[in-house]
Amino acid sequence: MKSPRVHALIALAVADTALLLACSSSEPSTSAGGSSGSSSSSSGSSASCPTKNQAADLTKCERQLTSHVYNCPNDPQFPPSSCRQVYVFPCGLPGDAGAPTGGGDAGDAGPAYDCASLCAGAVDTTLCRVSREDGSVAVTVSCGSEVCGAGRRPESYSAATVEATDATGAMLATIAQLEAGAIRAFDVMLAELDQAGAPAELLARVASARLDEVRHARAVAQAARARGARIGRLQMARPAPRDLVAIAIENAREGCVRETFGALVATVQEERAAADLRELVGMIARDEIVHAQLSWDVGEWLGSRLTERERAEVDRAIAAAFDELDAELAGAAPAGHPALGMPGRDEQRALLRALRQRAAA
Ligand SMILES: [Fe+2]
Ligand SMILES: [Fe+2]
Repeated sequence: MKSPRVHALIALAVADTALLLACSSSEPSTSAGGSSGSSSSSSGSSASCPTKNQAADLTKCERQLTSHVYNCPNDPQFPPSSCRQVYVFPCGLPGDAGAPTGGGDAGDAGPAYDCASLCAGAVDTTLCRVSREDGSVAVTVSCGSEVCGAGRRPESYSAATVEATDATGAMLATIAQLEAGAIRAFDVMLAELDQAGAPAELLARVASARLDEVRHARAVAQAARARGARIGRLQMARPAPRDLVAIAIENAREGCVRETFGALVATVQEERAAADLRELVGMIARDEIVHAQLSWDVGEWLGSRLTERERAEVDRAIAAAFDELDAELAGAAPAGHPALGMPGRDEQRALLRALRQRAAA
């Protein structure tokens, strides 16, 4: 694996996406699977990253689970952690749960909706999005995290429930959890690379990235609490010893794909975030570019220790991780989070496609 210059990669992906969206603004957005890359990766992603999708039975009135998006498992031995569930109410919402005011996306559920009841049993009942197509009786409710694609997560990461009174607070609390998870991920990475005999320069950069994540976790948690949000306590187990291939695959998936994409999205957010959040978003964007570069450089070093066959396995993991992330985004709510400057679903998918193409070039 040859490490790209991530700063340039991100700048090119942002420019590609702006051009693409400007050129295709009169066309409907493309569907899942439109990204370039090896077709063989698609089957690998569905095998390693289950996403359950099924049509609702409209002849029945009860709530039906139609989509279940998972954070992808980092190890087949570990069950994947849930990220989001989508329910359909074929006969509309129950009487005491509020009702969508019209067709299309009703955005983040506010006091009009009883999210605890609508999302009962889901991984997260704080965030719920209610929508109904024009002319349809059925109502769709999406429950759970919308940022399952961001950042580097340790092997045993599983999101805890957050409590918040508004969508921005809830999103900040969810991001604070991911930042806290990233501290553990770098702890593990430092120990494993040290054990593997990585150069001191690389180890120092990992230690520095860990300190960045401590700063991020504190700052984002503070911003979440300032909006009345409460952050759940993460439970993360120590991973069992792993071989270099497993370490390289996790680094490829969590770092080269997710952390680089997180840096790309944060770069876009910095331009658009509300004034009171711009400094925080900008700090994260700048640091995450450094972390993404570190991931690729670690990948290059690990690759130098692997056989050709093992390197091919890591390349397939990268392709699968791009597919998995695209599938997660495809199931996300269409709108972004304006206060955080977060782009909407279609723009995030376009950014991901541009990043993938540039990374493969
Ligand atoms: Fe971070
Ligand atoms: Fe990071």
